[in-house]
Parts: sequence; C-alpha cells; structure tokens
Amino acid sequence: MGTIVAESLLIQTLRGRRGSRPPIWFMRQAGRYLPEYREIRAKHSMLEIIKTPKLAAEVSLQPLRRFDLDAAIIFADILNPLIGMGLEVDFVAGQGPRIFNPLRSAADVAGLKIPQVIENSGYTLEAIELVVSELDRKGVPLIGFCGAPFTLSCYMIEGCGSRGSRGSQGSQDFSTARTFWKNLPEAWRSLQLKLVELCVDYLAAQAGAGAAALQIFDSWLGLLNQDEYVRLVEPYLKKMISLLKQRTNVPLVFYSTGTSDLLGCLSELGVDGLGVDGSLPLSEAARRLALPLPLQGNLDQMLLAGEWEPLECEVFKVLEEGQGLLSHIFNVGRGILPHTPPDNVARVVEIVRAWNSGAAGCS
Ligand code: CP3
Repeated sequence: MGTIVAESLLIQTLRGRRGSRPPIWFMRQAGRYLPEYREIRAKHSMLEIIKTPKLAAEVSLQPLRRFDLDAAIIFADILNPLIGMGLEVDFVAGQGPRIFNPLRSAADVAGLKIPQVIENSGYTLEAIELVVSELDRKGVPLIGFCGAPFTLSCYMIEGCGSRGSRGSQGSQDFSTARTFWKNLPEAWRSLQLKLVELCVDYLAAQAGAGAAALQIFDSWLGLLNQDEYVRLVEPYLKKMISLLKQRTNVPLVFYSTGTSDLLGCLSELGVDGLGVDGSLPLSEAARRLALPLPLQGNLDQMLLAGEWEPLECEVFKVLEEGQGLLSHIFNVGRGILPHTPPDNVARVVEIVRAWNSGAAGCS
C-alpha cells in the first residue's frame, strides 16, 4: 500500500482514528443505478464483466468518476470464485444468481475442488492491479472482498437465494440449507473448512495485488440464533480471520445483516471493523459490542432511493450517531438499490464531505 493510501481517511478510520468527518463509500456503488454501468451491461453479461479485467476495472472506477468517494470496491461477486470449485454459477436476468448443480450430499462436498487462486480468480487480481494503478497516486484505497463461508454455503446448497428474496426460486427461509446442516454435520464441517481455505487464499491474494482493505460479506448470517452461530459458524470465521491475519495486515471489515443479537460475539472475531445494517441505530449497535470497534453503516438504502427531505434528515442522523463511536465509516446498511437516483448519492456524498462535528443537522 502506498503511503498516501495508508494515510487515507478510510484506512485511518479502520485503525480506530477519528478524522473531522467519516470516510464515505457505498456497498454496490458500481451497479445498475448508474446509466454508464447499464450501458456496459447491455453489451456484456455479468460474468463477462467480472472475467474481463479491463471491464471490471472500468466498472469499479465509474462511481469514483461521478462522486467524491473515499474508496473504490473491486467489481466482482461473492459467488464467481465458486466456479473453480466445480459449481456452475450464473446470473440470470430477473432471478439473481443461480447455481445449477447445488450441493445435496456429503459426496457433493467431497467432490469440491480447492482451486489455485491464480487460476480461479486471476482476472479479479488483474482488475485490482488496473484499478490500483489509477487510484494509488490519488491516495484512494481499493477494497477487496469475498463472501463468508456461511453465506456461500447457503447459496451452494440452495442453488440460489431464498424464496424470500426477489424473483428467487429457492426454498422458503433457506430450509434446504437448514436441513443440510442439521442432518449432515460432518459434511457441513468439511464444506466450511474448504471454504475457509479458498477465502483466505483469495483475500490474501487481493491484498497482494494492491487492495488496501478487505471486507467479508456474510449477508445471510442473520438466519442463525446465537447457539447455532457458535456451533456452525464461529469456529470457521475465527480460523479464517486468524489465518488471514498471518498473511496480511491490511484492515479487515466483517459485514452481516440481521445480526443485532450477535454483535457482541462478532466484535470478538479479530476484525478491524464491523459493517452493520439498518436494524439498530449505530449508538445501540456500539453498545452491544464486547470490544469497541469502528462501525461501518448504516443509512437506509430505501431512503437513499427515495425523496430528498427524509433522506437528508436521515443522513444527519447517521452522522450524529457516528460521533459516539470509536470511529465511523459512512455507508448504506445494505447495497444501493437499482432505482436509486444517482443525484441522491451525489448529494449525500456532498453532505458527508462538508460535515464537521460542529455543523448543524436538519430542522
Ligand atoms: O459495488 C460493489 O459493491 C461491488 C460488487 C458487488 C456485487 N455483488 C456486484 C453485483 C459485491 C460486493 C457483491 C456482493 C454480493 N453478491 C453479496 C453480499 C452483499 C449483499 O448484497 O448482501 C451477495 C449476497 C451477492 C449475491 C448476488 N449477486 C445477488 C443476490 C445478486 C442479485 C441481486 C441484484 O442486485 O441483482 C447478485 C448480482 C449482482 N452482483 C449485481 C451486481 C452489480 C447485479 C448484476 C446485474 O448487473 O444484473
């Protein structure tokens, strides 16, 4: 990491230092709400963009050309790294991601390969190098990421998102995945260990290619109660994080949703920051931590897609809530929605950049 990137607001904030304002970036900041993304997407499939370093780099940079953001995130998905394990992954219009040969037995898990990271994800590493070569001199950090073993397992077993999610063909409330971990505990364990190995190699390689921070997405973790979390997930997350920390010292954020009751446990994972959704005010999320940590979040993505007045009010609320934290990274609670007006994003970025702790809020 170059020195100016190391001194950037995002990296300093993840080291627990507060600046005069929080850094700002958005989950899914590259995506369908941007006309310039839709233009590229009209000519290329999602997987083509991800697998073509020039296109993935271009799409990663699009939001930074428009908005004064404090970080870029590399364009990829949490699911494409599963292709090299032997899964047939695609992104189907109107349905979201699909896996056409989902895991249903211990033998299916035994048959999963752990591919070399260069062979499996070389295109993303190249895209990272391209983005970093453009951003490094401006001192803007690039965030690398992967899915967490639990959330990846849910997709691998279901073959898609739960039926609760838009347009998805999956079982109700992930019942296929639940049945799997209840009835096949050894296969579950073996699957978690394979994914830990894949994810550690992948994240370490992204840091090696120039990512200045890393984020683990565990979007479905809220399916579990605390007891299940401790049994089915925690040992593997701890292993993953400690192995990764032996290989890189770039700061690491753990993001999950629906996990208000797990925040105490999550704060003890050994990560440098926690991403939180909109289910609690930031001050209450912080109160639930067992160890104080920087928090990232948690503007309501639906408000971001809506009318300006309620949105503006909420932006100030999130900024004020953030002041009580060890440190704060401004973000949405969940990814930007496709119908979000880019102008809303521009105005939110302006407010956050102009904010200093003494400034007035909305009336
Ligand atoms: O800008 C960024 O945040 C970087 C790129 C990124 C994408 N997906 C691109 C994407 C990141 C970090 C992700 C993470 C991801 N992918 C998660 C974790 C975060 C979350 O939202 O909970 C999950 C669960 C997925 C799986 C996934 N990929 C779903 C459920 C969908 C369909 C929903 C949708 O928005 O269409 C995708 C597709 C996807 N991933 C798109 C993008 C830009 C839309 C693809 C398109 O252009 O058609």
